[in-house]
Amino acid sequence: MSQSLTIRRPDDWHLHLRDGAMLRAVLPETTRHFARAIIMPNLVPPVVTGAQAAAYRDRILDALPDVVDFTPLMTLYLTEDTDPEDVAAAHASGLVSAVKLYPAGATTNSASGVKDFDKVRGVLERMAEIGLPLCLHGEVTDPEIDIFDREAVFIDRVLDPIRRATPGLRTVMEHITTRDGVDYARSQDDLGATITTHHLVINRNHLLVGGIRPHYYCLPVAKREEHRLALRAAATSGDARFFLGTDSAPHTDANKESACGCAGCFTATNTMSILAHIFEEEDALDRLEAFTSLNGPGFYGLPPNETLIRLTKGDAVVFPDRINTEAGPVTVFDPGMPVHWHVSTA
Ligand code: DOR
Ligand code: ZN
Repeated sequence: MSQSLTIRRPDDWHLHLRDGAMLRAVLPETTRHFARAIIMPNLVPPVVTGAQAAAYRDRILDALPDVVDFTPLMTLYLTEDTDPEDVAAAHASGLVSAVKLYPAGATTNSASGVKDFDKVRGVLERMAEIGLPLCLHGEVTDPEIDIFDREAVFIDRVLDPIRRATPGLRTVMEHITTRDGVDYARSQDDLGATITTHHLVINRNHLLVGGIRPHYYCLPVAKREEHRLALRAAATSGDARFFLGTDSAPHTDANKESACGCAGCFTATNTMSILAHIFEEEDALDRLEAFTSLNGPGFYGLPPNETLIRLTKGDAVVFPDRINTEAGPVTVFDPGMPVHWHVSTA
């Protein structure tokens, strides 16, 4: 018997589109299913000012295939020199939907991020006043802290102090990867937490057992199985704090399959099929729409999309192994299992 499910069109609350040739090649992979996405600002150089965000939004809109209905929701990259008034103006004009905080050195193109959190206090206070959300890459960079513990330590050392010092600041814990992240999110109000597709599928064994798999390397790095299970429980719970942010992050194969490979899994192409598979496994297909299409707009104060997509169960879906770009091929995330959910626009 064929099974099908119709849900509101999903949004991606954490996406890397890059620029130039890479942008042009990966954008259709997202717009095929998603109506809106929060666009990460970690370009080289980063998108720091309102003027830079406006120019980047124009480049994204220029790269959009004709008649495609897609809204990029822009973000600013927070630096220690960010001007609170520039942020407030970018928010007031409707240009930006959030500000992104990268601890300096935490991940790809984060060198201009924040080292001393006291130096961004003024910006954070202004954001709390105007209701502009802060998206956080939640890992400490202290070399003494083991990479598998960096998220849990960030919650204690950085996130919780920021939230206590800045009442009313709306924060998004991005791409949570641990039970600690899930527990903290559940304990808070005015807070969202995004979960990626790949962290629902892989644990650290997938990355390291039987040979190192560079296409499963991302940041925050995948953790133990108990953490993956906590993420699956959170994502499929229906709890409005948890929503999809794929962190789909294209790098060319040459940059992934290298002695010092880049972090990032490219999941834009097959995310919705994989999620339907996971939610079915968890007996939670009735909560897929909350995770992909309702909870995120709820947090950001936007209406859910009016248009629909249909997911239909059938033969195993055949995805391309890689997307060709003028910069080189980009490998599509391999979930390591057949997925049978086909996506069509309803
Ligand atoms: O895996 C990741 N890739 N994590 C990040 O935080 C950044 C991203 C990228 O930009 O490649
Ligand atoms: Zn990211």
